[in-house]
Amino acid sequence: MARSPQMTFDAIILGAGGAGLMAAAVAGQAGARVLLIDHADKPGKKILISGGGRCNFTNMGVEPQCYLSENPHFAKSALSRYTQWDFLALVEQYGIAWHEKTLGQLFCDGSARQIVAMLMEECHKGRVDTRLSTQIGDIRHGDGMYHVAGACAPQLVLATGGPSIPKMGATGKAYDIARQFGLDIVTPRPALVPFILGDEDASFKKISGVSFPSVARVNGVSFEEAALFTHRGLSGPAILQVSSYWSKGDTVALTILADAASKLLAAKRAMPRAHLKAALSDHLPTRLADALAQRIDLPTELGNVPDAELYRIGDMLSAMEFQPTGTEGYPKAEVTAGGISTAGLSSKTMEAQKAPGLYAIGEAVDVTGWLGGYNFQWAWSSGVAAGIAI
Ligand code: FDA
Repeated sequence: MARSPQMTFDAIILGAGGAGLMAAAVAGQAGARVLLIDHADKPGKKILISGGGRCNFTNMGVEPQCYLSENPHFAKSALSRYTQWDFLALVEQYGIAWHEKTLGQLFCDGSARQIVAMLMEECHKGRVDTRLSTQIGDIRHGDGMYHVAGACAPQLVLATGGPSIPKMGATGKAYDIARQFGLDIVTPRPALVPFILGDEDASFKKISGVSFPSVARVNGVSFEEAALFTHRGLSGPAILQVSSYWSKGDTVALTILADAASKLLAAKRAMPRAHLKAALSDHLPTRLADALAQRIDLPTELGNVPDAELYRIGDMLSAMEFQPTGTEGYPKAEVTAGGISTAGLSSKTMEAQKAPGLYAIGEAVDVTGWLGGYNFQWAWSSGVAAGIAI
């Protein structure tokens, strides 16, 4: 039986998420014949659900130090050559209204669908051939060509992201292909992910939904944002941020009440007949004050408590220690840390040194941003770096 001829392209891009769409658009507009493949029935599914449907598409404060990687210098080149301001200029060119929410985080006023539509239009301008609901299958390399899904090209871009949120079709396929071509993988782990607490913290699980301003600290890294108790443990932006720096066995220190000792001493002077719960309720949500009072179990009025004891309680509330038993894992992780090692990639083009013509971009690579638009900026910047090169 005669075999149908393979369609030949200049580049095949695997994964139509933020990174793959950007790389395809840039390469296509530069004249490359690009095939973009995804097993999902829609492009940019994570963009669509991001930022509560409004897509936190970048951050005004993007700096290389906002990214975790075994090589903290790797992201510098791509981030400096396609910056947050470049992406913002594209957003404005499409007339997409945006706003800064907090901490430099930029969101669409309308819908994340506008970002996907913009990227699809950019791909359309680059005559990108997009094939959705398409399985990648096995990949073969021979005669300088990568053979994938009935097509071939001298260049192959891995943009299939990481395994976080598998129910949305996320897979570790990029790692399998990278390994096939001799690249190393930095052990992937769930990041920007809630913590699970053990039985010793059961009283806090009962106040699920209570959030408070906090400073969370892990391994010398700290973030000042809101924290939230959940029915299984801890979440909220401050917690998600430090989760990326956490390993099993590490302690998380949380400021439940800043400057707590002086607040308790002032309460003792102002209302000596009051109990701890009343003093805490002046500064914290009532349910949280209640749970803390139960846990601290101070069986007398504040006026009877020695100052030294109030200092001790204050210090504890200023940096309360939790030892999570684990995280909620990939099903709830906003990103995957680790991934394709940057040691084998060019920071300028994202091309693999060991496998000419093979590129890796976006979340598949061992570059992980903070919460707040940093991960999409990495997707855009690394996508542009590869798009220019192919
Ligand atoms: P991404 O995962 O987006 O795309 C990979 C593509 O490859 C997908 O289209 C997938 O279908 C496809 N694919 C995977 N495996 C495949 C296979 N085996 N065969 C074929 N195709 C395959 N970041 C941020 O900066 N701001 C934000 O507001 C948010 N919000 C947010 C909310 C939620 C709920 C999540 C889960 C994540 C975020 N993020 C975020 C993180 C952000 O979504 C993420 O960093 C980027 O989407 C990564 O872009 P990539 O293109 O690298 O991968």
